[in-house]
Amino acid sequence: MAQANIGIIGGSGLYKMDALKDIEEVQVQTPFGMPSDALILGTLDGTRVAFLARHGRNHTLLPSELPFRANIYAMKQLGVEYLISASAVGSLKEEAKPLDMVVPDQFIDRTKNRVSTFFGEGIVAHIAFGEPICKNLSGVLADAIASLNLPEVTLHRGGTYVCMEGPAFSTKAESNLYRSWGATIIGMTNLPEAKLAREAEIAYATLALVTDYDCWHPDHDSVTVEMVIGNLQRNAVNAQKVIQETVRRLSENPPHSDAHSALNYAILTQLDKAP
Ligand code: ADE
Repeated sequence: MAQANIGIIGGSGLYKMDALKDIEEVQVQTPFGMPSDALILGTLDGTRVAFLARHGRNHTLLPSELPFRANIYAMKQLGVEYLISASAVGSLKEEAKPLDMVVPDQFIDRTKNRVSTFFGEGIVAHIAFGEPICKNLSGVLADAIASLNLPEVTLHRGGTYVCMEGPAFSTKAESNLYRSWGATIIGMTNLPEAKLAREAEIAYATLALVTDYDCWHPDHDSVTVEMVIGNLQRNAVNAQKVIQETVRRLSENPPHSDAHSALNYAILTQLDKAP
């Protein structure tokens, strides 16, 4: 099977990468079914990458319907060691304004209906998740954003991403609760991906693209899909520039990641006696 060392997952609004050359579409079969779509293998400035549209290229999958395990398994099968997840998010803080970019370093789990482990059925493992996002990969990503000096975009290094179930957006009471917890942004997809990537020993980082102020903000009584998509389309060009620059930096200087040895001390089952 074709190989790529760097994976990119594109969320709402980012269904393809225009700069990809020598494209090959790969339908990857996994023990967890098919991924959200074919993986697009291509070359970005000489580096092979694998791109996946998280919700499918025509946006046909709800967050709760995503085949998270198949998506991460497929990336692993292609040889991906570094995974960048570009995702639309709402902002829970005044200073993170629509069109800004956040590279978060923490998550709060508010999902209810996701399978986010490869383990079970006879094999017990507990990965460390105190630092759920790879610091070094996030550093490369944030430095790439900063180096581009994108007009209208402020970079926020660090912050907590609340991962909610959806598909309905939050109530005002929920939005204010998350604000009282000190969270920075809210989305519906990245936490299961980060957990599964860690179990698969893939370094994972989030490029969060702020599309709205969620419903807490006095000027934004309710979040509409129109608002989210409008801002994301404006941001999609910037996001692709950021990904391209990040890939260039990663290929020149691939960072160490603790994620690459995440299973060293995680598995409790004696594998030679497992069913
Ligand atoms: N994705 C984009 N905006 C969002 C919001 N306000 N809440 C949850 N997910 C989002």
